[in-house]
Amino acid sequence: MKEKIEQLSREIAELKAASAAQVEELRIKYLGKKGVMTALMSEFRNIAPEDKRTFGQRLNELKNAVTEKIAHLKEELAEREDAEMEIDLTRTATQEPFGTRHPLSIVKRRIIDIFGAMGFTVAEGPEIEDDWHVFSSLNFPADHPARDMQDTFFIARNPADVLLRTHTSSVQTRVMEHTQPPIRIVCPGRVYRNEAISARAHCFFHQVEGLYIDKNVSFADLKQVLLYFARQMFGPETQIRLRPSYFPFTEPSAEMDISCQICGGKGCALCKGTGWVEILGCGMVDPNVLKSCGIDPEVYSGYAFGMGVERIANLVYKVKDLRLFSENDVRFLHEFDNAR
Ligand code: DAH
Repeated sequence: MKEKIEQLSREIAELKAASAAQVEELRIKYLGKKGVMTALMSEFRNIAPEDKRTFGQRLNELKNAVTEKIAHLKEELAEREDAEMEIDLTRTATQEPFGTRHPLSIVKRRIIDIFGAMGFTVAEGPEIEDDWHVFSSLNFPADHPARDMQDTFFIARNPADVLLRTHTSSVQTRVMEHTQPPIRIVCPGRVYRNEAISARAHCFFHQVEGLYIDKNVSFADLKQVLLYFARQMFGPETQIRLRPSYFPFTEPSAEMDISCQICGGKGCALCKGTGWVEILGCGMVDPNVLKSCGIDPEVYSGYAFGMGVERIANLVYKVKDLRLFSENDVRFLHEFDNAR
């Protein structure tokens, strides 16, 4: 038995394995139920009682040695595999295709740049909002249809009416709440409305809101800024037209049209024969809104405007189906490879 144990310990020290399967074979051979160690243990039973202590100890040592050796072989293999997976620096490089800017990002950037040149800075707010910032602070009456489930996605009705913002006008409130004028911001962002998806409507889209509050701000200032914007965006020949309208948060309110890009004002399918296409809503900030945000309407006045980025992109790129903007079909996106 003594020789057997010695021979086995030499054998074990020399063990090698080239694969996980070979390690497993060795484990079964030495430590398996019908393996070498089990056989030795049964021989141990026939050993003279006075020798039991010495041999028992040796057997234990041998068993530990096999167990450790097998664990060691396993580790070695894993390390070797890791090393083989290292990057092969001699491989030839492959050119990964470049992505492109999304047309909505391009248009959003251009809008921000145009207003940026006039001193407007960017302000952003959360898409998950509460009733106060989206409706109440902006002078929406309690029974306004926008507060209906059919128009707005509510997340929780109580206690604070948590909802997905339906317009970026909510960012106006967020900024006015903690800033005293002068305030000159544009607020780009995604908005949500409970609409059936079609070529002309989607349940989410993008807006850029503008807000200017200071002393002595007038409707004439608003008109000049919007004219400048329209000509930068659509070309120097562009004409604008302001039509009286209604928004709860502005008084007076207006909608702005630009002269049709396609027919130049003569009348075509895009402008439905009118020569004009609508691009945004605007107006003088209602004194109630200033008051609810802690700004004194006796001292300050201001204007606001809001436009849909998809709407502008439709006109700039002549995209007829709104759904193309969110489907991410690369054939569509690659058409904007060289757009700026
Ligand atoms: N919030 C309006 C909408 O989503 C757009 C708008 C209109 C914003 C007039 C304004 C504004 O700031 O003055 O339809």
